[in-house]
Amino acid sequence: MVAPEATPFAKTGGLADVVGALSATLRSLGHEIAVFMPRYAHVSLQGLPRVYQDLRVWFGPTCHTCTVYEASDRGVCYWLLDCPHLFDREGIYGDEAGDYPDNHARFAVLNHAALNVIRYLFRPDIIHCHDWQTGLLPTYIKTRYALDPSFIGPKTVFTIHNLGYKGLFPRTALAEVGLDDALFSPGLLEFDGQISYLKAGLVYSDALTTVSRAYAREIQTPELGFGLESTLQQRADVLWGIQNGVDYSEWDPSVDTHIAARYTPEDLSGKRACKADLLGALGMEENLERPLIGIVSRLAGQKGFDLIEEAGDALMAEDVALAVLGSGDPRYENLFRDLAERYPGRVGLYVGYNNELAHKIEAGADLFLMPSEYEPSGLNQIYSLRYGTVPVVRATGGLDDTVEAGVTGFKFREYTGAALLSAMRTALAAYGDRKRWNAIVQEGMRRDYSWARSAREYEELYRGLAGKAARAAA
Ligand code: ADP
Ligand code: GLC
Repeated sequence: MVAPEATPFAKTGGLADVVGALSATLRSLGHEIAVFMPRYAHVSLQGLPRVYQDLRVWFGPTCHTCTVYEASDRGVCYWLLDCPHLFDREGIYGDEAGDYPDNHARFAVLNHAALNVIRYLFRPDIIHCHDWQTGLLPTYIKTRYALDPSFIGPKTVFTIHNLGYKGLFPRTALAEVGLDDALFSPGLLEFDGQISYLKAGLVYSDALTTVSRAYAREIQTPELGFGLESTLQQRADVLWGIQNGVDYSEWDPSVDTHIAARYTPEDLSGKRACKADLLGALGMEENLERPLIGIVSRLAGQKGFDLIEEAGDALMAEDVALAVLGSGDPRYENLFRDLAERYPGRVGLYVGYNNELAHKIEAGADLFLMPSEYEPSGLNQIYSLRYGTVPVVRATGGLDDTVEAGVTGFKFREYTGAALLSAMRTALAAYGDRKRWNAIVQEGMRRDYSWARSAREYEELYRGLAGKAARAAA
């Protein structure tokens, strides 16, 4: 696996959960897995063995000298690329001023260094790349190293976690990362006058996957294809939709140590204690009867909070409470700050990143809101199902695939505040009917989205590709 983030070493979103948990599950199925990722400033190297010193990546006259350290998690080997001038920074992709201006070089070095690791440390059958940050790896293999025997065997899989982040850079970046300017062509890396690392991955990988079946269909349409729909249509024969699983050793109320009390579908009494604890943690009014809606999210355009901008007051008029955890775009941070000010006691807000609070919200809320404009998979609605926190979601991508309307949750399709309100009102009416509500809660808690099933689908894909490689070699 080559990835920009993976739990437990670095996380900004669901991609990290997926790389960490999928790798651990594949390991438990008997595969040998190594994850190659950057070592960011917050990860301590103390006590970790150095496995590759003076790894040099040359791009023209520039040499990036790195070291690789070895760590492990759940039986999986992690190789952390230490390159202080590129990765020893406050943020993962940027800081308050925005994205780091040298992200093209930072992730090109990650990709190129991965090739050294493959050449000298580990000969994989499959190189599995994740999102735009790893799009150059298959590109190097198929262009700069097309004749290099080291890379003739391994097959590349590229997973699209989010088509909205295309990794766009000026054309001049090509020369800076050791690629030929001829790649600036509409059938290759060119996108709207720039180059796209994501498109590079789409064009040059042997197989493509994305994180739900619905999203695999949606990205081939102009509505959700972000201008890459025709590239994806051309590669439809190698594009798979594999639903993300979740790691129930981390996200299950019967074992969760971050929450006030444990509970199960058979005995939900602990959930009330979790609600009281959450209301206290966010300094909200302790009213255990009032329906409490949870939100845990990156505050980005994709997540649909425009609809809260539109319908927030009408929603609050339903006498609900809102527990919000998120950070990101100041526009949405201010939207929730404003609601918290205007509805003191009923809107609790924490702006920032806080894993423990994320668990407390999953356990303590009654409903969980995800009004996403688009959602490749989404993990929080699947966590919510397991915590008996009924999801109310927009019917898009993985949200549509994992929530069953009226059975495990509630959905709306039209991207409007009115549609959100109407779904929420239906959910609140069900909340008022204890017997019906408990049936929905328990049905959701019993759904199984463990990684075991999804990992088998990846395994099948890997075997197909590796088999093809073996047949070609014979
Ligand atoms: P995305 O990857 O698009 O952000 P997902 O639903 O796949 O969406 O995954 C989001 C992950 O990040 C979940 O594990 C969620 O709990 C976590 N998360 C998001 N925002 C925060 C936050 N502010 N604090 C703690 N965890 C967060
Ligand atoms: C992306 C998507 C999210 C998905 C996650 C992990 O960040 O926005 O829907 O669950 O990746 O695949």
